[in-house]
Amino acid sequence: MTSAWAGAAPVTVRVPAKVNLELLVGSPRADGFHPLATVYQAVSLYDDVTVEESDRWSVTVDGPYAGGVPTDGSNLALRAARRLAATAGVLDPVAVTIHKDIPVAGGMAGGSADAAAALVACDQFWQLGLEKSALEMEAAELGSDVPFLVRGGTAIGSGRGELLAPALARGTFHWVFAISDEGLSTPAVYAECDRLRGSASVAPPEPKPETMAALRSGDVRALAAVLENDLQEAAFSLRPALRAVLAEGLGLGALGGVVSGSGPTVAFLVEDNEAGIDLAIGLTASGAAANVRRATGPVHGAHVLVGARD
Ligand code: C5P
Repeated sequence: MTSAWAGAAPVTVRVPAKVNLELLVGSPRADGFHPLATVYQAVSLYDDVTVEESDRWSVTVDGPYAGGVPTDGSNLALRAARRLAATAGVLDPVAVTIHKDIPVAGGMAGGSADAAAALVACDQFWQLGLEKSALEMEAAELGSDVPFLVRGGTAIGSGRGELLAPALARGTFHWVFAISDEGLSTPAVYAECDRLRGSASVAPPEPKPETMAALRSGDVRALAAVLENDLQEAAFSLRPALRAVLAEGLGLGALGGVVSGSGPTVAFLVEDNEAGIDLAIGLTASGAAANVRRATGPVHGAHVLVGARD
């Protein structure tokens, strides 16, 4: 049978990585997830996800971080495409291709980003015309971070991270990321956080007013002073070398630093582009990190690219 989409042009969606400026974690809920108060920022490291007509469901991955991404039915982008097809009543499969430039298992939501991109790409490819809010609801079923990667910008996340409220943020922030060559498992980091806390019960957290004020003012030094991540000690516990990475970046002049999400990427805030170049050179020369990348935030969430890759 010929696909209803035979001859339709492939759709490519570009999606950013994220960093958590603040990640406050409560005690686990009955469903095992942890209540969060987090502030997400989308940053300019991108994956590109293409969907095109095919006679079977498939996913292929290329690019710098292709290794380590599953290409079977567990791939989150493929699951996103199949889920949206089921919801929308689309019967024809698509082939998904991921150009991976976001580190895998790095605490920067790489897999979640690809799922967000696949939703936006399939919506366009199948001409569903879904509202962003409808896409974000689909996204929440795929993972806690996925709705934010659809939305982008800077946002407050609550619930398990999937409930979003806009955060007023002025200006552009410059980031340097120290990336490890081996990822950390998100469930393992949450479990380690629980283990370190022992029996102490932690109430569902609230976003800190200081963080909101720093974002509103666009004051990078104020923001650097309030960066906070409750998963950081757990990431350090599982990967002790990360402490030295953080200390190295701060010693080299970063205004602030924090483990990104569940790690092991360490995110540093710097004054401007030039300071970012200096820090990236310093971190690379020190050998503190396998890979160092610079980015700015906030940037847009998953969006259709017009024409070929730029
Ligand atoms: O939602 P997502 O699939 O990204 O979550 C991956 C894992 O991270 C969950 O299975 C859970 O172990 C942990 N997690 C959590 N609390 C959250 C988000 C994630 O415990 N709020």
